[in-house]
Amino acid sequence: MTAKLSAPVDVQIELTQACNWRCRHCYNYWRSAGTTTKSGRHLSCDDLFRIVQELTTNRVPSITITGGEPFSRRGEVFTLLETAKKAGIHASINTNLSLVRKEDIEKLADEHGGVSILFSLLSADAAEHERLAGAPNGSYVRVIETAALAIQHGIPVSLNMVLMRENLHAMEVTARLAKNLGVRTFCATKALPNAHAPDGAFLLSAEQVHWSLAELMRIEKLLEIPVDILGCYPRCLLVDTPAYQRFSHRTCVAGYTTVTIGADGNVRPCSHMETSYGNILHKPLADIWQKMGGWREGEFIPEECHGCPVVAACRGGCRVNTLTPGLKNMDCYADTRRLVGLPQERLASRLPEEIGNIPTKVIVCPQVRFRDEPFGALAYRIDPLAIVLINHSATAFLRTVAEKREKFDLSSFLERSGAMTESERRSVERLYQKLIRKGFLMTPTNQQERR
Ligand SMILES: C[S@@+](CC[C@H](N)C(=O)[O-])C[C@H]1O[C@@H](n2cnc3c(N)ncnc32)[C@H](O)[C@@H]1O
Ligand code: SF4
Ligand code: SF4
Repeated sequence: MTAKLSAPVDVQIELTQACNWRCRHCYNYWRSAGTTTKSGRHLSCDDLFRIVQELTTNRVPSITITGGEPFSRRGEVFTLLETAKKAGIHASINTNLSLVRKEDIEKLADEHGGVSILFSLLSADAAEHERLAGAPNGSYVRVIETAALAIQHGIPVSLNMVLMRENLHAMEVTARLAKNLGVRTFCATKALPNAHAPDGAFLLSAEQVHWSLAELMRIEKLLEIPVDILGCYPRCLLVDTPAYQRFSHRTCVAGYTTVTIGADGNVRPCSHMETSYGNILHKPLADIWQKMGGWREGEFIPEECHGCPVVAACRGGCRVNTLTPGLKNMDCYADTRRLVGLPQERLASRLPEEIGNIPTKVIVCPQVRFRDEPFGALAYRIDPLAIVLINHSATAFLRTVAEKREKFDLSSFLERSGAMTESERRSVERLYQKLIRKGFLMTPTNQQERR
């Protein structure tokens, strides 16, 4: 299914431009090299109410609160969380944790149960972390103590380590720290180029990318910790390596499933870029999203990628990674030579994992919501956040059984799907399994069983 969504799935909200750290690699376009952004613009409470209203109108299921450092405006963080909660929108927070207080953690745990945190750490070595983040002495200890406290309070916390040439060596020790802290996921994300350090001296080479992904997979097995990457790579970089099956499903989501709202209200397809398509404080999100249509229609897929056998899935890698200005330039990690002469089967993406025991009868989880889309619907649930795209026949069936709270099984799902060929039946079965795995379908409880 080629998804051309009617609205974003997740919206990043840059609550403020201010930040107390000065990470050299930081992509925030308003920064200049090696400086903190002590003040800068921020969204007022009125702006936040207006934004959440727009997101509600467009049935956006999820937001990510980011910046700058969001906790330099802690009052607005909680206003936004409160407003989003009332609107039934899932929220997560990106933070460096250094300004988060004990009472913030308690408030998050007591009043905002489903909210998750992704915190930035550049190394398990305190001196290295503080040097790369331009953070004052003692920041590291504060961050680790706060992460431990949040985890103790049951908040889902993940760690994001931005990978650069200088900290690549520290992947395993940092993952060990993450494991000992009890974080949900250890993310290792390659640094992207930024406007104030365009020479990219800190960026990984293609060889280092290959090494880092192999290392991440090694760490996952060794430490038994869930791992992930937050960026995307061109498929032609990863093809014919073990990382292909594991990580090539990550593609660029800018303007496709996400947008970023800046501290000035401007809506941008990509957090890393300054280009805006309109201001949400003055214009409906639906109009701005429509104006961004080119991002979903493949307008910026580089010419060199046209004709590539995996262009539909890869979409030409990352637009920020072109290094030189120009959205249609090739991702600097793309390596088309690796595709030459490769048989089709080696280009196949990983199949989703199957679940062992498929329950005989299921019902649709009462928390599932459907957002109409041109191809069918976006089915979502908020706590925990899960999203699945489904076609018209699956939408019609699931809506009906959800309304009636009716029990059903795989054969009735298959029957109503209209699947004719063996491969269509296989993909309906996979969808059914995915719906179970993600908690959209569940075994009826005894009470529901009696209805
Ligand atoms: C801009 S920060 C804002 C939130 C908060 N101040 C923090 O550092 O977590 C959002 C996320 O982008 C990551 N990040 C910053 N610069 C980056 C870059 N050049 N490439 C990739 N990720 C980057 C950070 O580590 C963080 O996870
Ligand atoms: S802490 Fe976050 S916002 Fe601040 S400089 Fe570092 S990456 Fe940028
Ligand atoms: S040639 Fe382009 S579309 Fe094909 S894998 Fe490489 S970057 Fe992706």
